[in-house]
Amino acid sequence: MKSVDTVAAFLLFMIDHKDIFVCPACSGALNISINRYIIECPGCNISFKCEDGIPLMFYPGEFNPNTDVTETVKAFYEETPFPNYEELDSKWRLIEKSEKGTFARLLDRQIPYGAVVLEVGCGTGQLSNFLGIKGGRTVIGTDICVNSLKLGAEFRAKNTLNDVAFFQMNLFRPIFRPESFHIVICNGVLHHTGDPFLGFKSILKLVKKGGFIIIGLYNTYGRIPTAIRRFIFKISGDRFKFLDSRLRDKSLEYRKRHTWFMDQYKHPHESTHTIDEVLDWFAQSGVEYTNSIPKAKAFESFSQEEKLFKLNDKGTFFDHLLVQCGIVFKKNSEGGFFTMIGRRMF
Ligand SMILES: C[S@@+](CC[C@H](N)C(=O)[O-])C[C@H]1O[C@@H](n2cnc3c(N)ncnc32)[C@H](O)[C@@H]1O
Repeated sequence: MKSVDTVAAFLLFMIDHKDIFVCPACSGALNISINRYIIECPGCNISFKCEDGIPLMFYPGEFNPNTDVTETVKAFYEETPFPNYEELDSKWRLIEKSEKGTFARLLDRQIPYGAVVLEVGCGTGQLSNFLGIKGGRTVIGTDICVNSLKLGAEFRAKNTLNDVAFFQMNLFRPIFRPESFHIVICNGVLHHTGDPFLGFKSILKLVKKGGFIIIGLYNTYGRIPTAIRRFIFKISGDRFKFLDSRLRDKSLEYRKRHTWFMDQYKHPHESTHTIDEVLDWFAQSGVEYTNSIPKAKAFESFSQEEKLFKLNDKGTFFDHLLVQCGIVFKKNSEGGFFTMIGRRMF
């Protein structure tokens, strides 16, 4: 049986940070009842319950129902929470694993203490928990999938990460006031929505002016090897799994390999994007390009000590072509992934 404190932790967190939370339906202020474990919007008379301590603040998006894939994607992740933890994952093991990845390590070193950080589509919350481990920053992880959030919240409670909190939220219907965050991270999420640019604009509003947005997406070129493997798996009844390096890595637990297989090869919806497309999103929305993984300029390599938030040359169309072809041949490209970082100017 969970203690009342654990169940109410995120409601108490909301009370402590009352200024940043709003109703996802009408953007009005909220009332929080600790005794009844309920969040109410006096403006539109909607109430939001909690499940295992997670405030369930999902509100459906409002774009074209023919292209809205939110419910399908939600059902997929409820079944297969991603990226999932391994049996033995502890605070120290999470630090060790996260520090092996350049991106997480650099984020942890370069996001200043005192910063308020939002991870949108945090899945099982590894990055949010990692960024909150040392304390001193406020890190909020949100996702539509309650089963994923529960795993993140369990890890958080087990390791007493008091500066981290998890909420259910549809990124098209944010539960936060505009300009509440110094940094918004959205890794591997927008390409699983029906309208990635609309999603980008929705979460950009949450970034303070002068703050940063970090977007990770499948790359149109980089994703080609995965598409070929997906086709081979499909026509062979999922044989030849050894063609994917993660699926042949026996040092990973079976559950981790299965989660990867499902996410990469059985996903109900994904789109792919290019560096030029995201630069265009940035230009249309008042965001200045600062950096990317891989770097946008051909023949420049992303250093182990890269300054993530420092202004870099955004390269030319030809640079981007070369860089993106490079993702195809990169070892451990995370399924043809690229990450773009920009600064909100206005
Ligand atoms: C591939 S996982 C990425 C998880 C995590 N960011 C990571 O990098 O490991 C995609 C996540 O996006 C979430 N997601 C998809 N559509 C969403 C939406 N409309 N609002 C919020 N989260 C969403 C899914 O539930 C899922 O957890």
